[in-house]
Amino acid sequence: MRVTPILATLASANIASAMLMRIAAGKVSWSWTVTGWSAGCAETCHYDFNVTGIGNSTDKPPSPSFKAYCSGEGEGADFKACTQLEESETRLAVKAKLLPNNNSTNGSSHQPQIQVSLQYIDLKTESTWWNFTGQAEASYNQLALMNFTITPDTIYGVA
Ligand SMILES: *[C@@H]1O[C@H](CO)[C@@H](O)[C@H](O)[C@H]1NC(C)=O
Ligand SMILES: *[C@@H]1O[C@H](CO)[C@@H](O)[C@H](O)[C@H]1NC(C)=O
Ligand SMILES: *[C@@H]1O[C@H](CO)[C@@H](O)[C@H](O)[C@H]1NC(C)=O
Ligand SMILES: *[C@@H]1O[C@H](CO)[C@@H](O)[C@H](O)[C@H]1NC(C)=O
Ligand SMILES: *[C@@H]1O[C@H](CO)[C@@H](O)[C@H](O)[C@H]1NC(C)=O
Ligand SMILES: *[C@@H]1O[C@H](CO)[C@@H](O)[C@H](O)[C@H]1NC(C)=O
Ligand SMILES: *[C@@H]1O[C@H](CO)[C@@H](O)[C@H](O)[C@H]1NC(C)=O
Repeated sequence: MRVTPILATLASANIASAMLMRIAAGKVSWSWTVTGWSAGCAETCHYDFNVTGIGNSTDKPPSPSFKAYCSGEGEGADFKACTQLEESETRLAVKAKLLPNNNSTNGSSHQPQIQVSLQYIDLKTESTWWNFTGQAEASYNQLALMNFTITPDTIYGVA
């Protein structure tokens, strides 16, 4: 948790004065593994899962390994910080949220869209940071745990 305030400060810094680098999603083959997913809807919809990424130091940009626990509620809610479960080789923050339901089906009969975002300090250059965000369709499976992968579709860096 010690990393979150640093990254929050960086994220709100004036991006216009820095160099913004966008990376086409197809150029990065990284994907993350969600394990122990459970979700359901009562008054609001809620989720609970772990997400793991295996780092690769020869990727461009180099990516760190991470493992985090995410839980939260509300389709269409803001990103909520996940809790890091392992030390990582760089400072990073993981967040998650349920995207708004655009399906007229009510209650738990529709599929949740979970979005996960990772922001981290470049493994070699302290002044550069990267933001990877991806989403996947999951299930309101209550307590029957499920696993799936999330592939980042939006990637940018700030130097
Ligand atoms: C997440 O991982 C931790 C540590 O490996 C484990 O104790 C916990 O049960 C896992 N939680 C879920 C929701 O899978
Ligand atoms: C690490 O990234 C490089 C370059 O993208 C790739 O060739 C290599 O297969 C990756 N290694 C692993 C273990 O995924
Ligand atoms: C919303 O609609 C788009 C396009 O049909 C679909 O790809 C997406 O999964 C839908 N999202 C939800 C939450 O149903
Ligand atoms: C969902 O259900 C509630 C109460 O059952 C109803 O008021 C609402 O109009 C429904 N929404 C949609 C999009 O069907
Ligand atoms: C809405 O969700 C239901 C249940 O997942 C699915 O069968 C249906 O195709 C979805 N409709 C749209 C327009 O996405
Ligand atoms: C990644 O960038 C998006 C869009 O600027 C932002 O909403 C999100 O909070 C960032 N992710 C993290 C983990 O800070
Ligand atoms: C999900 O992954 C975990 C860890 O790899 C494994 O122990 C578990 O059996 C998997 N569960 C399912 C439903 O595939």
